[in-house]
Amino acid sequence: MSGMCSHFRLVTLILYLLAIDLLVVTSRSFPDRRTVQLHRNSNQYRVNNNRPIIGILSQDLSKSMASVSPGSTSYIAASYVKWVEGQGARVVPIKLLIPGGGASLLTSGYSKAGSILYELAIEANNNGDFFPVWGTCLGFELLLYLSAAKRNYLTSCESYNRASQLKFLSDASTSVLFERAPLAVMKTLRKEKSTSNFHHWCMTMENMTTSSLDKFYRSLATSTDDKNLEFVATIEAVNYPIWGVQFHPEKNVYEWGTNLTSVPHSSDAVKAGLYFGDFFVNQARKSQHRFSSEQEEASNLIYNYTPLYTGNVSSSFLQSYFFY
Ligand SMILES: *[C@@H]1O[C@H](CO)[C@@H](O)[C@H](O)[C@H]1NC(C)=O
Ligand SMILES: *[C@@H]1O[C@H](CO)[C@@H](O)[C@H](O)[C@H]1NC(C)=O
Ligand SMILES: *[C@@H]1O[C@H](CO)[C@@H](O)[C@H](O)[C@H]1NC(C)=O
Repeated sequence: MSGMCSHFRLVTLILYLLAIDLLVVTSRSFPDRRTVQLHRNSNQYRVNNNRPIIGILSQDLSKSMASVSPGSTSYIAASYVKWVEGQGARVVPIKLLIPGGGASLLTSGYSKAGSILYELAIEANNNGDFFPVWGTCLGFELLLYLSAAKRNYLTSCESYNRASQLKFLSDASTSVLFERAPLAVMKTLRKEKSTSNFHHWCMTMENMTTSSLDKFYRSLATSTDDKNLEFVATIEAVNYPIWGVQFHPEKNVYEWGTNLTSVPHSSDAVKAGLYFGDFFVNQARKSQHRFSSEQEEASNLIYNYTPLYTGNVSSSFLQSYFFY
């Protein structure tokens, strides 16, 4: 299945994986197997890494994107990078391990690399090593696919260039993601068309059950597509620090393409989009992952790359980082 989140396959997939921190190294050993549950109570969580680094998985290039940087093999939209940088994190690009064509859940390099990283994250968390993961749009769809043992339960829908509200489900109020969200942010998400949707595939509540994915994830909120189909908009893993959103919280702040006519840029919508970035960076602050040396860290950070203007070839991304 290709073109998961956009007509142009330029999409918007992303999977954030927490890397590290070097400078806050403490020699204390990590607090064992309880950690997986501890993400539910950050007060109990003593580790506070105020120099978090977040890995962002690069994605397969479309032809038009490739034309901006001939010879490159993958890219990351700069809006994803800014979204976490603005909340006090640094970014390391995770270049596709296996090149592939198009953003296909089944065959793309993105999907294969995402699968490997997902398994590593599950294993780390199973070993009590806190390792948060965030998926946006195609990243959200990839998480669902991987957690369903690589079976695809998405259904075709029409939610491209659509701003929506969130309908919160009963699990939202006790979720890690929303239980401490500012009331003003919750009100914005509930009442204003403040989430930015760019996808042609949807997960229904019915298929969350059919697939048994509802045992792995709690659905926290839904939205509706152009034909009033209700789809899952936000998930939180029951026993893992894994979150996914079908919408694009980073676009509210950072994407201004002339064809992106639906993206909400009001002050409240921007704050709501940033809430999710703040939340995830805070989860990253609980992780002790780090590079083995300061030099290794420096050579991996995204500052080794310069973003290019892509607003003329991509309706989705004004600026992008390219990798070879
Ligand atoms: C459920 O998933 C199947 C694929 O496994 C898909 O064909 C079907 O359209 C989905 N149904 C709904 C209601 O989403
Ligand atoms: C788009 O802009 C980039 C950067 O300025 C430039 O290198 C490229 O040639 C442009 N592409 C088109 C199709 O205009
Ligand atoms: C914007 O949409 C128009 C009409 O579909 C299309 O011709 C144009 O290429 C798009 N612009 C970009 C930058 O994708």
